[in-house]
Amino acid sequence: MKIEAIHAEAYRGGKGDTCLVTPFFEGDDPAGLRAGKAAAAALCALSARGVFTGKTGQCQCLPTPRDRAQAVLAVGVGSRAKLSAEGARRAAGTAAGPLSRHRVRHVFLDVTRMPDRFAEAFVEGLVLAQYRFEVYRKGDPEGGAAVEAVTLIVPDGVNPDRAARDTHRAALIAMGVNGARQLADTASNDLTPSALAEFARGVARESGMSCTVLGPREMAELGMNALLGVAKGAAEEPRLVVMEYRHARAKKTILLAGKGVCFDAGGISIKPAQGMHEMKYDMCGAAAVLCAMMTLAHLGPRVNLVAVVPAVENKTGARAQTPGDIVRAYNGKTIEVRNTDAEGRLILADALAYAVEKHAPDVVVDLATLTGACVVALGHYAAGVLGNDDGLVASLVGAGEETGDRLWPLPLWDEYCDLIKGDHADLCNISPGRDAGTITGAAFIKEFVGGTPWAHIDIAGVAYGVKHIPHLNPKHATGFGVRLLTRWVMDQAKAAK
Ligand code: BES
Ligand code: MN
Ligand code: ZN
Repeated sequence: MKIEAIHAEAYRGGKGDTCLVTPFFEGDDPAGLRAGKAAAAALCALSARGVFTGKTGQCQCLPTPRDRAQAVLAVGVGSRAKLSAEGARRAAGTAAGPLSRHRVRHVFLDVTRMPDRFAEAFVEGLVLAQYRFEVYRKGDPEGGAAVEAVTLIVPDGVNPDRAARDTHRAALIAMGVNGARQLADTASNDLTPSALAEFARGVARESGMSCTVLGPREMAELGMNALLGVAKGAAEEPRLVVMEYRHARAKKTILLAGKGVCFDAGGISIKPAQGMHEMKYDMCGAAAVLCAMMTLAHLGPRVNLVAVVPAVENKTGARAQTPGDIVRAYNGKTIEVRNTDAEGRLILADALAYAVEKHAPDVVVDLATLTGACVVALGHYAAGVLGNDDGLVASLVGAGEETGDRLWPLPLWDEYCDLIKGDHADLCNISPGRDAGTITGAAFIKEFVGGTPWAHIDIAGVAYGVKHIPHLNPKHATGFGVRLLTRWVMDQAKAAK
């Protein structure tokens, strides 16, 4: 996305596929808009009749062939007092439909009366709303166009270069989110564990990061039997991806881990057929972590980052791991695999124990589509967050609030941690009964990070299929976690200076 910024006196509009987008507060007087007289009069009439009043979710496009831009799009943003960054993203999501249908390619976005950072959030929402997944067929079935350039019209006191730079950064982050969505939407016959590892290698190469990929023989040598046990039922080999970003003046190392189950059939504890296809999304944690790394490599925070992604398929082949099997993980703890469908925690166990030992991070965050219980608890509008450090959890919740990747904390008290003790081994990969499934999943992972400050984010409910958010498409992955991790890491890097 091409972004530039100008002051109002430099606004000349443009011919062709241009549109002036003007955010409109509820109760605003359309006569005050930058639109030409005819458009303002039309909007006045619509507002007098209550058709377009500036409520959130409203959007009115008017062709203005004789004005400076070819069309004007008034976008309702509700009351001035209540407008948030998320409101701006959603307004952009609402605007994206008409912009596409009217084949607009160049937007002039009038933010002269808008609060700071409105443009960033709006452009972010627009890039997210314009995400398409059409690699398996020719072209966009809706036949619309995409906005390729945005010219911001900024208030007089604001430096246009700076506004353009900040907004460009927001667009870049949103493109990172779309990268994760693309990876997640890709079918599991194409996005195998080795394909996921190749993607990581490509990202690392293009962004100047290092990347090592372990295969099953190396993992066996290292004693990663929890991860290997999951992979046993699949023809596709597992991979362990380790990606590193280094900054010469870093004071801190952050470890990010993402669950990369490219398909989760459940294994011998097989899942029901209905909805099983959605388990191609069981690598959304991995996608978020890898694409956050890609984005962060461009932003250049003063911090060291390590990403670890265990990538496997959980299937039912002749050699598949069997309920009751006992495996010894990388850190020596033995695990009774009572349910082969609780595989995410098994692969994260080895990945985390290994990366924590090898890289001695100051802090660890993992993202995983770990439990159906999290969908039951929180639905699709917040991910669950748990950990062994309240300050860390609070900092993540804060970053979530700012980015729209919202998190809600759940407790991880000792009583819960007792529920995953094994009968015949140190640990059991499930707890008895159906109680507190998200918490006991986290309790299991906790056993593999030692004393390092750590937080676990369960994204099972928010990674795909999220309805009623204008800038997200319920048929696609959301890329949840890219914006969150990017913002949180940038904040951590600033704080560590
Ligand atoms: N990948 C699933 C969790 C999941 C469920 C993600 C629904 C997205 C939507 C995970 O591997 C799983 O199967 N978890 C089990 C754990 C149980 C056996 C303790 C579950 O949630 O049923
Ligand atoms: Mn599973
Ligand atoms: Zn899974």
